[in-house]
Amino acid sequence: MTTNKTIVLYDVTKDIVLGKEQKTLKILKDVSLEAYKGEFLSIVGPSGSGKTSLLHCMSGLAKPTQGSVEILGSNPYQLSSSKISELRRTKIGFIFQSYNLVAALPAFENIVLPLRLAKKKVDKKKVYSLLEQLNFKASANSYVDSLSGGEQQKIAIARVLVSDCQIVFADEPTGALDSASGKMVYDLLKYLTERGVSVVMVTHDIEMASATDRALIMRDGQLVDTIIQPKDAQLFEALNGNKRR
Ligand SMILES: Nc1ncnc2c1ncn2[C@@H]1O[C@H](COP(=O)(O)OP(=O)(O)O)[C@@H](O)[C@H]1O
Ligand SMILES: [Mg+2]
Repeated sequence: MTTNKTIVLYDVTKDIVLGKEQKTLKILKDVSLEAYKGEFLSIVGPSGSGKTSLLHCMSGLAKPTQGSVEILGSNPYQLSSSKISELRRTKIGFIFQSYNLVAALPAFENIVLPLRLAKKKVDKKKVYSLLEQLNFKASANSYVDSLSGGEQQKIAIARVLVSDCQIVFADEPTGALDSASGKMVYDLLKYLTERGVSVVMVTHDIEMASATDRALIMRDGQLVDTIIQPKDAQLFEALNGNKRR
């Protein structure tokens, strides 16, 4: 594997076939990109532009119709199901909206689930201090389906923070949070990148994206621009400007 590349996508296309008429919807068109160790990458674009679909293709959750995906040196769609689940469990962290929490387990157990599965030691103090840092208000013993969207999001974030994954995929991780908690989440993700983790975050928050190393701009299923050390104004223009086609 090329030393510091964590993810490589080449000409990724994703089609969805809809309804009785079998109408084909092209939700991703020829997307190529790379992500690096320790890089904080953001994906921004209007609603429906394909950000979540791209994250799913990048992270091994949805096989592209065409093109190739490489995560930490292997193509997840060519791995056996046990290898892909091992890769997900040990190397990848997901912070997706209402996606990855286990309703039958209390908050605390959701956070330490990857550690339990990997038979690693659980540092209770660390978990409680993270929850405090995240301003988690509920009890760590509450079942997740009794928690608000924001509190559930904090559980998903804490889970990633206690694991030692190499890549974190986050889909609007601050979407359900107030701005102070959002800032905290940003700081924690930033801290992970400083320890060499590659963070890929979808966000509609221009201010948050402008604090990342590189922003990928999506529009109509295409990656239309890449901005290194993006500034608010550049992102605003890339998202709202109509000069690009
Ligand atoms: N399973 C699906 N069935 C039908 N349409 C879908 C499906 N997944 C995504 N789409 C469509 O693909 C486009 C991109 O969706 P999505 O990746 O969720 O965009 P974003 O995250 O940027 O809002 C949208 O037009 C959406 O309606
Ligand atoms: Mg989305």
